[in-house]
Amino acid sequence: MGLDVKEKNLLKFLGKHILPPCVILPYVQKTYFVGKPLELVGFLYVCYLLYKIVFYPLYFKLKIATWGRVNIRSYGKYAVVTGGTSGIGEAFVHTFGRKGLNVIVVSRSQDKLDRVKKEFEEKYDGLKCEVLAYDFNQTDKKVLSAFQEDFKKLVEKVGGIGVLVNNVGMSNDDPQYLHLIDQGLIDSMLNVNNGGTMMMSRLCLPFMMKQRKGAVICVSSASCTHPTPLLSCYSATKGFGNQLTRSMFYEYKEFGIDCLSITPYYFVSNMFKRRRETRMAPFPERNKARAEAKAAMKAGKKE
Ligand SMILES: NC(=O)c1ccc[n+]([C@@H]2O[C@H](COP(=O)([O-])OP(=O)(O)OC[C@H]3O[C@@H](n4cnc5c(N)ncnc54)[C@H](OP(=O)(O)O)[C@@H]3O)[C@@H](O)[C@H]2O)c1
Ligand SMILES: *[C@@H]1O[C@H](CO)[C@@H](O)[C@H](O)[C@H]1NC(C)=O
Repeated sequence: MGLDVKEKNLLKFLGKHILPPCVILPYVQKTYFVGKPLELVGFLYVCYLLYKIVFYPLYFKLKIATWGRVNIRSYGKYAVVTGGTSGIGEAFVHTFGRKGLNVIVVSRSQDKLDRVKKEFEEKYDGLKCEVLAYDFNQTDKKVLSAFQEDFKKLVEKVGGIGVLVNNVGMSNDDPQYLHLIDQGLIDSMLNVNNGGTMMMSRLCLPFMMKQRKGAVICVSSASCTHPTPLLSCYSATKGFGNQLTRSMFYEYKEFGIDCLSITPYYFVSNMFKRRRETRMAPFPERNKARAEAKAAMKAGKKE
């Protein structure tokens, strides 16, 4: 049907809110309230209150569950995940696998890339995992343009990309005063978190513009949504990606590209040397982590 989103929403609204009372109430009125107008008014008012109490939470629950849901495969056949060999990035890779998307993983260590590729292709039959090793911390222009060429060739080979997840990032391991953090670590955070996000976005957007659809997801951090003393540089780099992506949302809307920045709190990952899951700091992939923890416990018992 040639309806746009607004019209569809209006129809849904009418169907949910206006139609049921319109159909039910005249029937009730006919049966019970012939000739008793005042009672009818009271009855209608009570109905209205009940309806509000019962229906509204349900309505909002439905809305939250369905609103803005997209089929991730509608963007394209491939998703690019930076830093996809551990933590949140790896969880994204497996989520895409479960949803039927092929992935391109760009990360630093070749051995970890090989492991992720093997696991992915074994687990999700028929899907492909392409890998490119690249260190986002280097500033050598030659290495950078060689990577960009390789990346473009790969994307052309696989026929375009639908989703980019700007996930790669690093932090100071221990909270520390800004002036005491090692200069090398400051450089790494700026190169990887800011530079990586910027470079990959600029690299991928033209491919998405060509097909007039795509999605860019930035894995920012809750640390950039409020002052975060002793993680000031890290949180500022996360603010960079967040701000960039939120502005890109408006910039690239007309090209059919959705841009989303997420600002999660703590996860168990390599980043913060945290190993035990808590309610406030879960594993990026809960089911997988639970299975692994169970397996580890079993193995521990046997020994
Ligand atoms: N963990 C949290 O609590 C948390 C909370 C909010 C936001 N975040 C954000 O989530 C993102 C992922 O964090 P995580 O905790 O999942 O991290 P992680 O477990 O440390 O994983 C980082 C990933 O990035 C890769 N990587 C690191 N440095 C790289 C470099 N210079 N060049 C290329 N690849 C590099 C790593 O590969 P190698 O192992 O080969 O280096 C690894 O695949 C980050 O942007 C982080 O800021 C994390
Ligand atoms: C990142 O590069 C800088 C130089 O720009 C260097 O000082 C630093 O040690 C590197 N960091 C890592 C984690 O390799």
